[in-house]
Amino acid sequence: GVVHLHQFVIRATPVKRLCNTHNSITVNGMFPGPTLEVRNGDSLQVKVVNKARYNITLHWHGVRQMRSGWADGPEFVTQCPIRPGGSYTYSFTIQGQEGTLWWHAHSSWLRATVYGALIVRPRLGESYPFPKPNRETPILLGEWWDANPVDVMMEATRTGGAPNISDAYTINGQPGDLYKCSSKDTTIVPIDSGETNLLRVINAALNQPLFFAVANHKLTVVGADASYTKPFTTSVLMLGPGQTTDVLIKADQPPARYYMAARAYQSAQNVPFDNTTTTAILEYKSTKKGNALKPIIPSLPAYNDTSTVTAFTQSFRSPRKVNVPTNVDESLFITVGLGLNSCPPNFHKSRCQGPNGTRFTASMNNVSFVLPKNFSLLQAHQQGIPGVFTTDFPGNPPVKFDYTGNVSQSLNQPITGTKLYKLKFGSRVQVVVQDTSIVAPENHPIHLHGYDFYIIAEGFGNFDPKKDTSKFNLVDPPLRNTVSVPAKGWAVIRFVADNPGVWIMHCHLDVHINWGLAMAFVVENGVGELQSLPPPPPDFPVC
Ligand code: C2O
Repeated sequence: GVVHLHQFVIRATPVKRLCNTHNSITVNGMFPGPTLEVRNGDSLQVKVVNKARYNITLHWHGVRQMRSGWADGPEFVTQCPIRPGGSYTYSFTIQGQEGTLWWHAHSSWLRATVYGALIVRPRLGESYPFPKPNRETPILLGEWWDANPVDVMMEATRTGGAPNISDAYTINGQPGDLYKCSSKDTTIVPIDSGETNLLRVINAALNQPLFFAVANHKLTVVGADASYTKPFTTSVLMLGPGQTTDVLIKADQPPARYYMAARAYQSAQNVPFDNTTTTAILEYKSTKKGNALKPIIPSLPAYNDTSTVTAFTQSFRSPRKVNVPTNVDESLFITVGLGLNSCPPNFHKSRCQGPNGTRFTASMNNVSFVLPKNFSLLQAHQQGIPGVFTTDFPGNPPVKFDYTGNVSQSLNQPITGTKLYKLKFGSRVQVVVQDTSIVAPENHPIHLHGYDFYIIAEGFGNFDPKKDTSKFNLVDPPLRNTVSVPAKGWAVIRFVADNPGVWIMHCHLDVHINWGLAMAFVVENGVGELQSLPPPPPDFPVC
């Protein structure tokens, strides 16, 4: 493979959106950031130079990072942040992955503006498992705040309340025609009659699952999270934050301009969200200028249309029979959900602005994940530094209750901890992820670093090991790095722990990470060099 060298300079840059100019943190002055294009088997060396006033790290979302965990990027998980004035070179190789991934900041809420596409094409001389498209376009869905996103996050942390919702959704950084002062910068995606375009759709939004559709056009899904899928046709996509979906779109309509649009999928009731619509324009090149056709708006499902989401996610299959572990060595049941902590006695009530004077929290198995401050978990693991984490996740067995129903508040006050779960190299792991629906039933996009996993089943209600195992697809389940766990439901994933290191698993709604909806696996070294994590690079940022 080829080695691609890049320099990413992080700095505050004036960005004009929704009528005002804001000093936003960007990479190389670009928002969204640069698209990286590589082939399977290539290596990347990205030197990140921090000229901003914030600590930052970058994460290469979905890259397996085989034996290169030092380059994964989540702050205080694999590395300490790159301080203002500092730099760090992320070096890693793409091994066996093809399709669309992305990169983003993994500290605070900096990924609101610090993100970009990472496109992995087949090896030289190899081709896609579908007819070669005439064009390819990354479609990055995002969220825009008029306020500084870091301030929004810090304010929420201080008050214990929910953070302000975003002021717009965006496609390739642009809100589009339906927002004030945004029309003339609307993203245009060109196409010619008869052509096929490969849209690489990425949900880079911070806190919002999104529907996506293109007026009058069908979309053929051919991949997700850099794994190919058995092609299927749909008129609408749903992506949780973190997820990517590759679709082919054929220009088989009368030449005109058609809107592509994205809007919220909001499974939680009574939770504020932005119900506006972002648009871009699919423009047939042969559209007559003088003809000034009004673009046609696609119909998108209602914001709470869970049945459309279920039908869509259940359409995903691997293209052929895959090698899912049929037996497992480790079987975990992990609840994901929000909680409410009562206001500590020494807190002024302005610091407890959650429902009824509480503070929001979130947890896995009632443990709210706390990151260390002076070491990264990976460094502490590799160097045997004591006192940074424990490996007793979840510590006390999870309380069994009806996850879908009315639950007493007493089950709803997670403890805090830095509890990891240790996996032997090569162990076959099953995780049942169960939405608790306690504060609000929500579709949680659960992302595991360092791995792709098979989603072998999902369903609603409480997972029942007696009857739900009959739903397991051990033949051709989809391979992904982020699973949208159904609201009031569950999903089952399987993977083989073949990548040594420390790997965080978290909800990709950033506000939920702040509240602690995470845990991490320690995967031990196996036998010999090829099953072990090498030492960190010389410029590795320590605290
Ligand atoms: Cu894309 Cu830990 O995240």
